Amino acid sequence: MDKLNILIVASEVVPFAKSGGLADVAGALPKALRALGHDVRVVMPRYYIVDKQKYGLKPVEGSLGVPMGSSEVWGAVLETVLPGSDVPVYFIEHEGFFGRKGLYDEEGKGYEDNDKRFIFFSKAVMQLAKKLHFRPDVIHVNDWHTAAIPVLLNTTYAFDRNFAHTGSLLSIHNLEHQGRFPKSAMDTLAIGWEHFNAGELEEYGDVNLLKGGIVHADAINAVSKKYAQEIRTKEFGWGFEELIAQRAYKLHGILNGVDYEEWSPAVDRLIARKFDANDLSGKAVCKTQLQQKFNLPARSDVPVIGLVSRLAEQKGIRLLAEAIWEILEMDVQIVLLGAGEKWAEHFFSDVASKYPEKFGVYIGYQNELAHQIEAGSDLFLMPSLFEPCGLNQIYSLRYGTLPIVRATGGLDDTIENYCAKDKSGTGFKFYDATAQALTTTVKWAVHTWYEEREDFDQLRNNAMRQRFDWKVAASEYVSLYRSIIRGRRKKEEQI
Ligand code: ADP
Ligand code: GLC
Repeated sequence: MDKLNILIVASEVVPFAKSGGLADVAGALPKALRALGHDVRVVMPRYYIVDKQKYGLKPVEGSLGVPMGSSEVWGAVLETVLPGSDVPVYFIEHEGFFGRKGLYDEEGKGYEDNDKRFIFFSKAVMQLAKKLHFRPDVIHVNDWHTAAIPVLLNTTYAFDRNFAHTGSLLSIHNLEHQGRFPKSAMDTLAIGWEHFNAGELEEYGDVNLLKGGIVHADAINAVSKKYAQEIRTKEFGWGFEELIAQRAYKLHGILNGVDYEEWSPAVDRLIARKFDANDLSGKAVCKTQLQQKFNLPARSDVPVIGLVSRLAEQKGIRLLAEAIWEILEMDVQIVLLGAGEKWAEHFFSDVASKYPEKFGVYIGYQNELAHQIEAGSDLFLMPSLFEPCGLNQIYSLRYGTLPIVRATGGLDDTIENYCAKDKSGTGFKFYDATAQALTTTVKWAVHTWYEEREDFDQLRNNAMRQRFDWKVAASEYVSLYRSIIRGRRKKEEQI
């Protein structure tokens, strides 16, 4: 099998910068592709928070000229490898655009020049590939931040020999965020105003970068089979349902994998005591440590329900806010780690101060604590309104922490509902996006913990034996890349 040249472009990559699951994916998939023998390279912005020293970033010689509208903007490039691999990671540096505190926003307010920042980044990626004489077979871009690249590939760089046979794949990790900007963004893109039309980049008078990516990419991946179905419907399509349904022929649903070197209780260095499916004694130690951390009574008999989440509407936080009082009437403990919407941060902190014996809250972003919650909890709650894939429920399975999820997107694809008859299943699911359905399902899970312990233990065992390896997902990506390349060739032959 020939080796492919793959360029993966993302706005965040673990371990350098992360705000959500996209970074986990962009940090793990390249390693899995590399293990399959391909030449994979990764590009991301050099945000202020990327620690140059810790990760050994070295400057790439020379600067990078990036055409931006009528002028040229100069950037620099830094380089290192993905830890634990030889996959090169390039960082586009520009003090004005990326030398800031946040990735996309500060204090919940998006940067006003996000169009310029990410169009600059997208163009810089193309210029970098040329500078390195790297001729990608496929450029794999992710979400709106890099969705301009398939557009550039088909316009500005259409006749560039460096990209003569380059195809593109757009992964949609979240359709809610589309990169919508005033039409002046067309000047920054500088691909010609003829592309500002409803069939390409225009959307109600604005520029919509994700739309451009959806139209121009050779293929689209929606990170779970269910989400790939859902986004063709009004409920989940964010106005793009028709656009996407018309492109069902190039829409795929390859599920994300998990980096089990990071997220497995048998090797996790961030938890109090390691454990595995054959010996859960370490999990009990993790539970006690977690209860102590949150100042909750160190009871082994009570079920601890964990939550690690961006506090965004998507995650069903309003359902939880409504259901929380009734849930707290049960004999349970809840620990929540999250940050995001201010009302939610205040609300849940307030509930915690009213129920200090039952509800622990940490507002902020804390990777170590996220691992400890996975390890020390008995149940894990994800009441999402929509969830393209969701990683935390998959991590939870491995830690024997049974997920309670709403049956949407990747949550539905990865969790099998408990069936008492044959003790099958890996978690508890509900269907309606209502506080009542959520409460009833939490009650069901808690009842199972107290009254059907044998079943609970069996479920835990089922859960811990599930595997969502990147190796499998990476092979599916390779097949998709190959079909993109074949498609491109066919098109070229027709020209
Ligand atoms: P999304 O990308 O929509 O936020 P995912 O479930 O795919 O949802 O991924 C979320 C990732 O971010 C997980 O790795 C999770 O552990 C992490 N995460 C979310 N919120 C926090 C937080 N407050 N502190 C630490 N890690 C967090
Ligand atoms: C997005 C989605 C989440 C998914 C992640 C990685 O942030 O909200 O469901 O797991 O991307 O694909």
